[in-house]
Amino acid sequence: MPRKRSVREAEVRGRRVLVRADFNVPQESGGRIADDRRIREALPTLELLKRAGARTILLSHLGRPGGQRNPKWSLAPVAERLATYLGQPVPLLGEIVGPSVEARVREMHDGEFVLLENLRFDPGEEANDTAFARALAALGELFVEEAFGTVHRAHASTVGVPTLLPAYAGLLVEKEVESLGKLVDGAERPFVALLGGAKVKDKLPLLRSLPGRVDRILLGGALAFPFLAAEGADLGATEVEKGLDAALKEFLARAEALGTLVILPEDLLVERPGNPTAEAATAREVPSGAIARDIGPRTRDRFYVHLSDSRTVFWNGPLGLAEDPRFSPGTREVLAGLETIPGYHVCAGGDSARIAEELGVVGAFQYVSTGGGAALEFLEGAELPGLAVIPDAPG
Ligand code: 3PG
Repeated sequence: MPRKRSVREAEVRGRRVLVRADFNVPQESGGRIADDRRIREALPTLELLKRAGARTILLSHLGRPGGQRNPKWSLAPVAERLATYLGQPVPLLGEIVGPSVEARVREMHDGEFVLLENLRFDPGEEANDTAFARALAALGELFVEEAFGTVHRAHASTVGVPTLLPAYAGLLVEKEVESLGKLVDGAERPFVALLGGAKVKDKLPLLRSLPGRVDRILLGGALAFPFLAAEGADLGATEVEKGLDAALKEFLARAEALGTLVILPEDLLVERPGNPTAEAATAREVPSGAIARDIGPRTRDRFYVHLSDSRTVFWNGPLGLAEDPRFSPGTREVLAGLETIPGYHVCAGGDSARIAEELGVVGAFQYVSTGGGAALEFLEGAELPGLAVIPDAPG
């Protein structure tokens, strides 16, 4: 992918710079930020803008408030955390656009920051409404795309505004494109994809993009269940996604034709009603009434063998119900094993980074993406509207 025009090349002194960040951070009930990685990862761009004397207007969404104001999704906790990291006030403006916001940003000084309230409180954001995009663009003179996690969305702040103002990529966006790009172009082989989590339907585009590009696909978590069921396994009382047989068959045939090995669990840890401890079962036959919750010890060993000679690994999604200590060994042990294997290991998508951190195995990765769906779509090779709209670097 050609290099994008960078914030490092922008003339920002004394100018109002709109920075679209992805401060969509997980929160605990009560609003406490559970993981501020996305805030920390935006800091190098914000520090750069501060040093260069920009007047920085921060834009983000939080959650999915559906175009309505909802205090639950206010960016107030984000403004507080930003102020702590930047060592200066980051006022949260109560409104997103309009005369009061315009008046406030015109009074800004060099090196100052303000944060607009959650963009998704306005229905114009997700609709990429022209009037809303114009009102946002009127607040600034330049635009910086720093929200890698949202570049797969064609919204007013990710596509509308950068078509109206000179647009640049932020440092995080550059780092993500370069680091994930290594998996798309010229990854060192053997290249292994280790995939878990739920919802095969959502991950089909990613799965379909892998045969031929990777050497092995190791499947765990609920992602493996429809594959096991299609092979005739009896999964007891486990909930299995239906209606996927034709898609799975087609995927497996393509993987075989292109020489990509697909490895399914051979054993599982299951939960049986009335028994508080995890039980092991073969993946062919889960006892009736029991629910599969994790990969079993033989599968962990097998996955380790398939990872041990790899040079590149991509991981997305837990291999079991990792938030329950009884069913976290699959994810924890396999990633702890990965930590001992040399190579380039990338974690991306959804809650994967947080889970690895909670299990104490985030050290298995040379790169942890801030992207959820955006990172997965990038790896699929899809065109991402929020990136496509940023001009390429000159020359
Ligand atoms: C994410 O968390 O993946 C991004 O912030 C995008 O959020 P969305 O899926 O609600 O558009």
